[in-house]
Amino acid sequence: MTESPSLGIVVVGASGDLAQKKVIPALFSLYCQDYLPAHFRLYGMARSPFGHESFRKRISENLTCRYMPDAPSCAGRMESFLSRCFYSQGQYDSTDSFLDLYQMMRQEEGRSPVNRIFYMAIPPSVFLDVARALGDSGLVACDDEEVWSRIVVEKPFGRDRQSSDELVGEMQKVFTEEMTYRIDHYLGKEIVQDLMVLRFANLVFEPLWNREYIESVRIILSEPIGVGQRGGYFDGFGIIRDVMQNHLLQILALLAMERPAKYTAGAVRDAKVQLLRQVVPVSLEDLVAGQYVASESGLQQGYLAEHSVPPDSRTPTYAAAVLKVQNPRWAGVPFLLEAGKGLDRKLNEVRIRFRGVPSGWFGDKRVALDANELVIRIQPDEAITLNIMNKVPGLGLDLVRTELNLRYQAAFNITIPEAYECLLLDVLKGDRNLFIRADELEAAWDIFTPVLKDLESKHIVPQPYPFGSRGPAAARDLACRHGLSETV
Ligand SMILES: NC(=O)c1ccc[n+]([C@@H]2O[C@H](COP(=O)([O-])OP(=O)(O)OC[C@H]3O[C@@H](n4cnc5c(N)ncnc54)[C@H](OP(=O)(O)O)[C@@H]3O)[C@@H](O)[C@H]2O)c1
Repeated sequence: MTESPSLGIVVVGASGDLAQKKVIPALFSLYCQDYLPAHFRLYGMARSPFGHESFRKRISENLTCRYMPDAPSCAGRMESFLSRCFYSQGQYDSTDSFLDLYQMMRQEEGRSPVNRIFYMAIPPSVFLDVARALGDSGLVACDDEEVWSRIVVEKPFGRDRQSSDELVGEMQKVFTEEMTYRIDHYLGKEIVQDLMVLRFANLVFEPLWNREYIESVRIILSEPIGVGQRGGYFDGFGIIRDVMQNHLLQILALLAMERPAKYTAGAVRDAKVQLLRQVVPVSLEDLVAGQYVASESGLQQGYLAEHSVPPDSRTPTYAAAVLKVQNPRWAGVPFLLEAGKGLDRKLNEVRIRFRGVPSGWFGDKRVALDANELVIRIQPDEAITLNIMNKVPGLGLDLVRTELNLRYQAAFNITIPEAYECLLLDVLKGDRNLFIRADELEAAWDIFTPVLKDLESKHIVPQPYPFGSRGPAAARDLACRHGLSETV
């Protein structure tokens, strides 16, 4: 009988924030729930000087038993997880470093068959170096071998259509498209996955899900913090590349796509690509770019004073863009995407506003009839709310806007899995449904590349807005021009 393969997970950039705070804790959580094979091992690789023990100590600082914190087995689980973690110091562009890693892995694994996941928790500037060195070291199993290799790549996937195509092409020399899992952690969020269920498992929404009944869609990602220590990274990308071209556009695609033929990775991604290709590339007229300045109290500094940000930077920290989908379902419906840092609140939500009912039928009422709105709050405190008009209980006929409210925590009373946990489990199972395919990436870049180029070539100065405010006033004008009332 052939031995079933064990699993080796290589985290490249294991010293970094993403690896330490998200990826490794998510793997620990999967381990605690028995989702990892008994013989899995985790190999950290980075330039920082760690030994196995100091690496384990570093990891342990961020591990918690989220699912059973009081269980006596928790400490034991942590110990056994850590005993499976190893570290190899090296340089990202050095084949020798990856050969050293390979040798260490072989010492631990012997000659038994091993499936491998390579997690690229590194800045995009070193993606290609690592992919080439991995390929040259012979660590990557070919497709036709009895074991598999999969690579997980973090956004940003390039800076525009051209650089993204180049990156994809070069990476594919080592990892085929089938081996590649381009992660957008927003797609791992419970409520984002629920969008498809909400749309396609409930009869009530589908007949209304079109231009006849929906007036506008707004997708908001508002952060009350600035760029902090990540100014150097952020300044090279800006808010449109950082969250709009990926997270918000993915949400739009799930909301607006046609029903996929089946719930399979191929069909869902086909439907998303089809939709993204029907989105008109954003123009400067339909975009407001902003940059935060010091707060009115003076307590919070402006973007230009942040660590590693050039004093003359024109990088937007806020953007509002109206997207138009050219197809029979959505023609004329504005999709307003808004994202910003240094705003007045932490909020990520989708607001689907339905058209109003004809007024006057109830006579001269004190409260104007308000249109229905379906609000899907992704964070904080996941919830789905339907705003409806209701009669105020009591004598007479007074109307009031009320909420049908599904709050996840109260309704399900479970520990909601972290996005990385869910997505890493999918990588392990080979389920690519929630990962970005190359043609999807192309279509997403085609929507934003022209306006990104215009912003740069025309030296557009972003509109200033005070830290802690609701963003630039021009964004509210943009929303009004397209028939939407408020902004973030
Ligand atoms: N943090 C998040 O929550 C998050 C979310 C979404 C996407 N991402 C993406 O995930 C990747 C990793 O994120 P991160 O926050 O962990 O980044 P990070 O902490 O800045 O970098 C990860 C590791 O890469 C190495 N590194 C840093 N700068 C480098 C450089 N200029 N050249 C070569 N190596 C360098 C460092 O390790 P050594 O010095 O030890 O080699 C560092 O510990 C990035 O592509 C980021 O955009 C992160």
